[in-house]
Amino acid sequence: MNPVRQIRNLALIGFMGSGKSTVGHMLARRLKFELVDTDHLIEQQAGRSIAEIFAGEGEATFREFERRVIEELAGRERLVIATGGGVGARPELLASLKQHALVVWLWASPETLWERVRHQTHRPLLQVPDPPARIRELLAAREPVYRQADVLINAEARPLRQVAAQVADEFRRATHAGVRT
Ligand code: S3P
Repeated sequence: MNPVRQIRNLALIGFMGSGKSTVGHMLARRLKFELVDTDHLIEQQAGRSIAEIFAGEGEATFREFERRVIEELAGRERLVIATGGGVGARPELLASLKQHALVVWLWASPETLWERVRHQTHRPLLQVPDPPARIRELLAAREPVYRQADVLINAEARPLRQVAAQVADEFRRATHAGVRT
């Protein structure tokens, strides 16, 4: 049997607009954990915005920043980690998070995701002529990996406060009972 994992942190994965940052804030308050947002960590380390990294050096450089930031979190504890939408879609980063965190996928339909992000302009991947089609495509490609999270939570059709309460319950249950790999 696999060893019981050392769950010290909680990580939220999911598509852009799924509510990771908002739910992350609420959870950090509830659990008295520190909130870290991988996009913010990258911007701090790089000294420029994500849009600037994409425009100046390209997506591959951004993904390398992402990998480094995720690896650095492995030694920490009592964190709520709000990830960028691409993190949970990369099997190696998901595996890294699972070593120390309960990984929760916040799910929402492509229609809801588009409604939530349509008035925002800071996401380079959605600066395309047909963003709803891009969302559907990317989501379809990423879902098989997101699906490997420990817990799947429906993050649409109810207030994000209720979503946060459910995630907190799942976390308490997992850390109480122990989670096997
Ligand atoms: C991305 C999601 C963004 C940000 C970057 C790339 C993605 O984060 O990391 O624009 O690949 O899905 P949010 O999910 O917080 O918008």
